[in-house]
Amino acid sequence: MSQVRVHNFSISLDGFGTGEGQSLEEPFGHAGQRLHEWFFGTRTFRRMHGEGGGGGVGVDDALAGTWATDIGAEIMGRNKFGPQRGPWTDEDWQGWWGDNPPFHTPVFVLTHHPRPSLTMKGGTTFHFVDASPADALAMAREAANGLDVRIGGGPSVVRDFLAADLIDHLHVSIVPIVLGRGVRLWDGLEGLEQRFTTECVTTPSGVTHLTFTRRGPHSSPRP
Ligand SMILES: NC(=O)c1ccc[n+]([C@@H]2O[C@H](COP(=O)([O-])OP(=O)(O)OC[C@H]3O[C@@H](n4cnc5c(N)ncnc54)[C@H](OP(=O)(O)O)[C@@H]3O)[C@@H](O)[C@H]2O)c1
Repeated sequence: MSQVRVHNFSISLDGFGTGEGQSLEEPFGHAGQRLHEWFFGTRTFRRMHGEGGGGGVGVDDALAGTWATDIGAEIMGRNKFGPQRGPWTDEDWQGWWGDNPPFHTPVFVLTHHPRPSLTMKGGTTFHFVDASPADALAMAREAANGLDVRIGGGPSVVRDFLAADLIDHLHVSIVPIVLGRGVRLWDGLEGLEQRFTTECVTTPSGVTHLTFTRRGPHSSPRP
């Protein structure tokens, strides 16, 4: 069975995966870029965004670099895809990532406001689906053709997949900042650690990387 994985998911010390007040200018709201500064310096990030060579190859990069290995599809929330809310007023928006997004696989965007699929350069196709986490995962699994499925965020979607017990591997990067407001990752997930083996490493950038690896069989039926 293919794995369901979360990678490089950055949260503040107080558990926020994004700030408040997302807008076109500020995709992470008042958090700005602070949640991901550790990531910007890595070779993985530079390659992901076509910035050529360079970038750090230390422990942050070693952890960040596995995000695309054996991934055949991603599932993301509508707020990761864009800052719009409610029904689409136009369908010109194609995501934050330009005409060649870094995913290079089918991407299932969860939304209560579906729209036609978008085929981008480089193998990324955005499919907009109104579905439960389990049903979205079944679609992504089929599209992934035996490879793993990444849950790409934001915090609401990762939280929902954790609550539904659908995640096998979770990599969280705890950044030493206090955001105070935004969208929290851990709410409602009391006792989550009991389902996983956890490991942690702190890197010179000041980030603590935590990995949660599923211990046993899933508690809920899987497609
Ligand atoms: N910290 C990180 O590493 C990281 C990673 C990725 C993204 N982010 C950030 O996280 C923020 C977005 O996170 P978020 O928690 O606000 O939102 P999100 O998880 O991206 O999306 C939530 C939205 O997706 C739609 N949705 C979710 N589940 C659904 C379902 N089962 N069926 C139908 N629609 C569903 C709903 O939108 P509608 O009802 O409007 O359709 C819901 O409001 C952005 O600022 C992004 O930049 C952070």
